[in-house]
Amino acid sequence: MDGTIAPLSDIKHLADKYKALIFVDDCHGTGFLGRTGRGTEEHFNMIGTIDIINSTLGKALGGAAGGYTTGSKALINLLRQRSRTFLFPNTLPPPIVASGMKAIDLIENNPNLPERVLENATTWFYSDNHPICPVMLGDARLASQFADEMLKRGIYVIGFSYLVVPKDRARIRVQVSAAHSKADLKRFIEAFAEVGRQFHVTK
Ligand SMILES: Cc1ncc(COP(=O)(O)O)c(C=O)c1O
Repeated sequence: MDGTIAPLSDIKHLADKYKALIFVDDCHGTGFLGRTGRGTEEHFNMIGTIDIINSTLGKALGGAAGGYTTGSKALINLLRQRSRTFLFPNTLPPPIVASGMKAIDLIENNPNLPERVLENATTWFYSDNHPICPVMLGDARLASQFADEMLKRGIYVIGFSYLVVPKDRARIRVQVSAAHSKADLKRFIEAFAEVGRQFHVTK
């Protein structure tokens, strides 16, 4: 939520020490962290060392629905029998699976895509290593009104507030993509500054 990367190698060190399993929710890492977009594991050069990874097809992989869990064969067999969300819903529609697979192919074969996302985020926003750039406003109503004003200017950002984030930590969540041009980002910054002045949060 805050665009910070979990210190996975330290976590692994502790897990090994205390014989614990590691579960990573990599929904905010898949597709742009790591040279070929494999996520936080690849970012730390730890491919194959995390016990369970859960992720989504619905963020960096293009906005389709659905997600996946990776792990040992024994774990996946267990989940197939016991996971209610796997057992009861209808299956993912094949076109969504196909578009998720195509997105993975594109990212794996074009390492410049994850690079470009980070370049866009780090050049234009204060983020130093992550494309999710929260702009902290604190107040929930302000965050929601701010997002509405941005939408009026044709820019879709989301106001996040309690319960999704801690109380008084409301923010605008900005998500930068590889498809954004410099002109898009410039337009965003200008609109953001204008709305910020309107709400007296920027000078
Ligand atoms: C960290 C995290 N995990 C999981 C999810 C859920 O992803 P999905 O909408 O694909 O179920 C989200 C959605 O915002 C998320 O931010």
